[in-house]
Amino acid sequence: MNRILTALQPSGILHIGNLFGAIEPMVGLQSDENENLLFAVDYHAITVPQKPAELRRNILFATATYLAVGIDPTKTILFQQSRVSEHTELAWILNCIAHMGELERMTQFKDKSQGNDLSVSVGLFDYPVLMASDILLYDTNVVPVGADQKQHVELARDLAERFNNRFGETFVVPTPQIRKEGARIMGLDDPEKKMSKSATSEKNYISIMDDEATVLKKIKSAVTDSQSTIMYDEKRKGLANLLTIYSLVTNTHVNQIASEYEGKGYGDFKVGLAEAISDYLTPLQEKIKGYLANEDELINILDQGAQRAKAIASKKMEVVRQKIGVQL
Ligand code: ADP
Ligand code: TRP
Repeated sequence: MNRILTALQPSGILHIGNLFGAIEPMVGLQSDENENLLFAVDYHAITVPQKPAELRRNILFATATYLAVGIDPTKTILFQQSRVSEHTELAWILNCIAHMGELERMTQFKDKSQGNDLSVSVGLFDYPVLMASDILLYDTNVVPVGADQKQHVELARDLAERFNNRFGETFVVPTPQIRKEGARIMGLDDPEKKMSKSATSEKNYISIMDDEATVLKKIKSAVTDSQSTIMYDEKRKGLANLLTIYSLVTNTHVNQIASEYEGKGYGDFKVGLAEAISDYLTPLQEKIKGYLANEDELINILDQGAQRAKAIASKKMEVVRQKIGVQL
């Protein structure tokens, strides 16, 4: 049996990059042969300031979204990170074997701390260690993530190997699984950088809750180039990104989409793309709203998930405590 695990920060906005890079692959991996875990990393979220009422709403929103996309809580252990205290307990132990130097090299930390070095939280620096603990606690084999998270999974591998060398075989060394197509959806306003909810402009991303008019407006303003043909060419980054998105929402190959736009220009292409995105998002949005209307049920699903996760995590922590010598 393969154990497959991934997690997402509960934030008010989930964009189509998150959807295709992280959530959907998890739906595709649900099967009787795998044991899947998916959770909202609320303790990662608080590495930057959060308003409590908003954080609560966002945890529920994230859960509703996973369910709407097709996560089945009988097949996937769906829960909230903070409800399984073993995550932070193991993070402390891993902190004591992680090196300052390797955390200083993490590109996400460098990006996110730029310009405000002194007021950045210790939690943000330590974020990858908590993530390693999320992964190692469950003897995870495979970690599906977007390309930007690969470095963090590699740190988890390094920490697992270091721990195993020092204290004897304890952790499974996990493998990152990076989705090829759509693994990295680029920003609409800047196809050199990945689509991100922390981008300065809302025109950077399509939120999964964007309505038709907003989608059309954002796609119309997406950066492309001055050429007139619609064809897939990696060098034409803006267009290649839009074609990738088109392909993902319609489940059609990029070349076929390009051939449908032969002889047509960006105007038609963008209108078609915006429509295809909305056709994909509208039913999803209805489902999300349906789940959010029944908070008690969502909380109940998360409670049950936490109990199942805790059963695995608490056993693992007993072993870890024994290995490091604190278990008397
Ligand atoms: P953001 O950069 O928008 O804050 P997160 O860092 O919270 O997104 O990422 C959540 C998950 O979504 C991760 O697994 C990440 O790899 C994936 N992801 C984020 N942005 C993209 C993107 N532009 N394309 C594909 N996957 C992405
Ligand atoms: N750092 C990941 C992100 O921003 C979220 C995350 C936390 C995660 N713990 C994890 C992803 C464990 C995979 C496995 O996307």
